[in-house]
Amino acid sequence: MRHFVVTSGPTREYLDPIRYISNPSTGRMGHAIAMAAVRRHYQVTYIAGPGNPEYSSVVGAKNIAVTSTEDMLAAVLESLTPGCVLVMAAAPADYRPKMRSPIKIKKRESPQLQLVANPDILQEAARRNTQFSPRAILVGFAAETHDTERYALAKLREKDLDMIFLNDVSKPGMGFGAATNALTMFSKDGRRRELPLASKEELGEKILDCILEYAVAES
Ligand code: CTP
Repeated sequence: MRHFVVTSGPTREYLDPIRYISNPSTGRMGHAIAMAAVRRHYQVTYIAGPGNPEYSSVVGAKNIAVTSTEDMLAAVLESLTPGCVLVMAAAPADYRPKMRSPIKIKKRESPQLQLVANPDILQEAARRNTQFSPRAILVGFAAETHDTERYALAKLREKDLDMIFLNDVSKPGMGFGAATNALTMFSKDGRRRELPLASKEELGEKILDCILEYAVAES
């Protein structure tokens, strides 16, 4: 039986005990995908960043709550198993503050924010995948505002993915926090499929169909 590892939501990178860098991801898309996999009786590990509490866990899944991108990376690498499917629906912060103050930074200190790059979780998963037999199926998302297809195809190749779902976040009703979305799927074996505007819950089912079709064709 296939094991699905699904990530969702944003990550938070704290500057001090009360301030952080993040993004407005709610976790709704990842939650819908994990729910769809549970409904089809797959074993599911759901790794959620601090998004909307409604999407913080999935009944019937193993739930892991994380805060930062490095926490999410550790949880993903611990959860991956040979032959599993990793769906990176999360929006991990790409950067974190170079220094984190253990005490509140005061206004009069006029702090300068220096950032360092976070690891890329999909790239680390792809590296781990070279040791797996059978290989895991790696699925990513690309949230883009311009040159959308070019960037999505570049991510598919550069992150060594099996499949990527492009999300044009410049269009109304799409992307972070929206109830609906429309996606274009590109797979490593050259397939392309449009998933027209629908609720994220309906799209969760269609995303799972795309992944399972690919898995059958691959095996
Ligand atoms: N992702 C990841 N690790 C990160 C950042 C992103 O694994 N540190 C994953 C996301 O979950 C998504 C895919 O990579 O599945 C693409 O994320 P996106 O934010 O569109 O792209 P980036 O790689 O961050 O590149 P850019 O910000 O330059 O578009």
